[in-house]
Amino acid sequence: MHIDILTVLPELLESPLQHSMMKRAQEKGLLTVQVHHLRKWAVNEYGQVDDYQYGGGAGMVMMCEPLVKAIEELSAGRKFDEIIYLTPDGETLNQKTANTLSLKENLLFICGHYKGIDERIREHFVTKEISIGDYVLSGGELPAAVLVDAVGRLLPGVLNDETSALTDSFQDNLLAPPVYTRPENFRGWKVPDILMSGDHKKIEEWRHEQSVLRTKEKRPDMLDGDE
Ligand code: ADE
Repeated sequence: MHIDILTVLPELLESPLQHSMMKRAQEKGLLTVQVHHLRKWAVNEYGQVDDYQYGGGAGMVMMCEPLVKAIEELSAGRKFDEIIYLTPDGETLNQKTANTLSLKENLLFICGHYKGIDERIREHFVTKEISIGDYVLSGGELPAAVLVDAVGRLLPGVLNDETSALTDSFQDNLLAPPVYTRPENFRGWKVPDILMSGDHKKIEEWRHEQSVLRTKEKRPDMLDGDE
């Protein structure tokens, strides 16, 4: 998979993509991520990419021209399956969307800043709008990093048996069961006996039960809909 990211703050994306699974995915050649500074397509020598909004009001808006030039130049090099704008008014990211996007070849993410991007870009170029939750961040960079991680770790070969996504929360519409490691007794708090039994079938049943209980308790909404 190849992901291009358009941003005015490329530095914000550096570290999250250079560690752990995202590092591994890129080293294995399963994922390439290219971060592009939008100022490369600025409208003037001062690097301008935003302007005051029509109708008045506080806050700048990211201009059409730099975004269109960037999108068209990048689109000439590859055919994007989706052009995704990270925005608080997009559809809320969930595991299903991450799974769907992980099957694509080429994605372009646009990180908004200030008041956001000119609406005409959303109408004419953006194919999908994603929010990472009902709260407002200063820009789309951290959401873009979240989306790269959520999607990138699902690419075949990124995770191994030990880190398999199959046992993640949400993957089967259930939260993951509790987990324990050494020591078996910490301050008198014991690991459940069943996990020490060596009976793998029983352990799997217990884990499933715990998943269901945990989901009922913490996220009953996951059990009643088709989500
Ligand atoms: N940009 C600012 N806030 C955001 C959010 N919650 N999700 C996606 N993009 C954003």
